[in-house]
Parts: sequence; structure tokens; C-alpha cells
Amino acid sequence: MRLQPARLIDGRLRLPGDKSISHRAALIAALADGASEISNFSTAADCASTLACLRDLGIAVERKENTVTFAGSQKLIAPSRPLDCGNSGSTLRILAGVLAGHDFTAELIGDVSLSSRPMRRIIEPLELMGAKIESTDGKAPLKVHGSNRLNPITYKLPVASAQVKSAVLFAGLNATGRTTVIETSLSRDHTERLFDSFGAPIKIIGDGSITLDGPARLTGGTITIPGDISSAAYFMAAAMLLPESDVTIDAVGINPTRAAFLGVLSSWGGEIRVSDVQRERNEPFGTIKVTGGITRIAGERARTLSSGMIPVLIDELPLLAVVGSQIEGGIQIRDAAELRLKESDRLATTAANLRAMGAEVEEFDDGISVSGPTPLHGALINSHDDHRIAMAFSVAALIADGETEIAGAECVAISFPEFFNLLESVAKR
Ligand code: S3P
Repeated sequence: MRLQPARLIDGRLRLPGDKSISHRAALIAALADGASEISNFSTAADCASTLACLRDLGIAVERKENTVTFAGSQKLIAPSRPLDCGNSGSTLRILAGVLAGHDFTAELIGDVSLSSRPMRRIIEPLELMGAKIESTDGKAPLKVHGSNRLNPITYKLPVASAQVKSAVLFAGLNATGRTTVIETSLSRDHTERLFDSFGAPIKIIGDGSITLDGPARLTGGTITIPGDISSAAYFMAAAMLLPESDVTIDAVGINPTRAAFLGVLSSWGGEIRVSDVQRERNEPFGTIKVTGGITRIAGERARTLSSGMIPVLIDELPLLAVVGSQIEGGIQIRDAAELRLKESDRLATTAANLRAMGAEVEEFDDGISVSGPTPLHGALINSHDDHRIAMAFSVAALIADGETEIAGAECVAISFPEFFNLLESVAKR
């Protein structure tokens, strides 16, 4: 994909449903008593992987455009072939939690990237609950030997991961007694919000503990998925970086465990307004408007992203590194070694691509620092087949001098197939 610089971006958008919420809504609908209808279901290839796995588990799923219906009140059955999770860590890890609570054996497989990512983080708690999971040196393929009589556990998460938390909670639906997950750092809480809304007895206790009393049933129903804030982030950043821009995005999810990005852009001098806030199934959503330009100089503290900020910004960090290259004094990201374990090693791929565009970047074991403000120049960008890297550097391309080529740009379909068309629809040259 070849991208030219833009003068500004201008327009009004409505985005496909949030990827994380869509995965969870589909799993809940598959397990629930009664029918469900999910509207504005994510168009991400990752969420299509979740639906395909559910079909292979015998679940009747119908999809008409972005509305997905489930007959409900069905039992999962042993699949006749390996469940292909594609590139999707959420599918593989959270589905492993579902399968742990079912009395059959199923194999979970993924693509090369997913097969290189760590899975011990789910194997350990799910085995403590009574499942048996075979792996290849802690990686996929995973063979899950489930049991419909799991033991409840109290589990302190060793890594701040919503996927691990969700795997334990989905398994907890089929455990007899109280499952408790303790988080030392807050991660996205869609599973908790949706379990509560679909009728499972889940409680959040102030000290970072979440309890679920099992065995628990979910009740099907309807949900309209809010727009994906992690997809909105690219348009917000582009609008901030191109003065005179004016972008409005309607019905975007603004769950506080996902919306820290808005606060960071504001603290770096962005002009962002949120209005018309509503709720759907415990999930807040609203209209986000960004007007262009960096209007204030960020203080030193605001320019370091670390510790508890990392899990709530996790998918936006490559993009924040791009924005950081334009911030007076530059920015620093620390305590973010988890980024090395994503679809690509996002510390290395972000650093290399920023350098290719002329930025000065230092890489640490757990982060990067980016000098700023630095004019960027067009370059050949390697996406490493990582959708978030391809999209973050498409934003960089809009503010660079000259043409940028994104190699492997088609990987954006993993989370946001409409990305380039929408970007072109708002970019003015
Ligand atoms: C996700 C959680 C995060 C995030 C991923 C989606 C989820 O991963 O990076 O894109 O839907 O739970 P971790 O939980 O592994 O940090």
C-alpha cells in the first residue's frame, strides 16, 4: 500500500464493533440459554475466527452482514477437526477457558505468529482448575482435555492480561463454587461487564478481585456492539497531528479500561471532546470529536507511559510512539515488555519503522524512548504482518514528507478491514 502525505483529515465516521467485546459477546451467546442477536459485530478477521470455531463446536450461528444470531440453549460438542484461531490471541486463549469446562478434547491451532506466542499463562490456571492441556513447549497447538466439573480457584494474575483473566472467568462458569481472579493492574473488563449483563453472578471487589459463583448460566439477548475505540484511535491521532483537522466518530466504546488513550492525547496537547454518552449492556459509548493541532506543551511526567498505564493502553502503544515523535521533548514507554509478545515484537517493529522514517529512538528491554519533535520522511515500512503496526505507520505516513509504502498492509483486515478506505475518505491533500 502506497500512502501520500495529507494536509488534514475531515469527516464524520461510525466504526465497526469493538473486537474485544465482539469475541466475548459471541462466546456468551454460544453458551447462553435462549437466543441472542449481536448487532454491529466486529468485521475483524479475528472475530470471524471466533465464529468459525464456534460453528466447529456445533453451535448454530447465522451472520447477515454485521448482525450475528445464535439459536441458543445449545451444548458445545467435540469438534471433528482442530479449531483454527488464525491470528487471534483472544480467540485461542479465551476459548481455551470455555473448553476447559467441557467434557471433551479439542485442539486449538493458529497461524505462525499465534503459534509463537506464550500460552503457559492460560495453561497454568486452567490446569489448576482441573483441565489437562497439552502444548508444544508452552505454545500452540494446544490440546485441551476439558472437564465439566472444574474446581474453583483463587488466582492472582502473574501478567496483566485480560485474555488470561477472561479464560479463567469463562472456565469459572463451569466450576462448582467461587472462582476469584486477582488483578494487580487493571486490564480491560469487558468479560466482567458482559457476564453481569447476561445474568452471571459476577462481582468486582474494590481491591482488584473479581468473583464468579459457579456453576453459572448466562441468559441470551440482544446487544449492539459499540464502535472499536482501538480502531478510532488511528483517526484521532491523525486528526491531532494534522492542524486544521476535524473528525467526529459516533458511537465509540469509551469503557475506562480502554479509553486511557484519550487522556494521553489530551495530556500531550490534543483537543478531544466526548459527548452523547450512553450505555449498552454495561458498556459506555459516546461521540468523540478531535480538532487538529497540538495546542499545549506536555509536561515531563505526562510524557512517560509506564506501570499501570501500560495494560490500559496496550494496543495503542505503537501509535502513541508515532504521536510521541511529534511531541516537544519526546516520549518514553516503560514497563511494556508484554509488547514483545504481541502479533509482532511491537517494541522492535515500532522502533525499526520509526527509525526508517527519520525518528531518533532508543530501545530498552521493556520499552522505547522517542525524541521529538522530529520531521518524518516517507519510507518503506515493514508491517511484519502486524495489523496495529501497519495502521500506526499509515498515520505516520500522513504526516511524513513524501510517499510511504507499507509492506504487508493487507494484515489490517485482522482487526479493521475498512481501514484504508475510511482513511482515504477523510484525508484531504
Ligand atoms: C485483548 C487483550 C489484550 C489485547 C488484545 C485483546 C482482549 O491482550 O492486547 O488485543 O480482547 O482481551 P492481553 O490480554 O494478552 O494483554
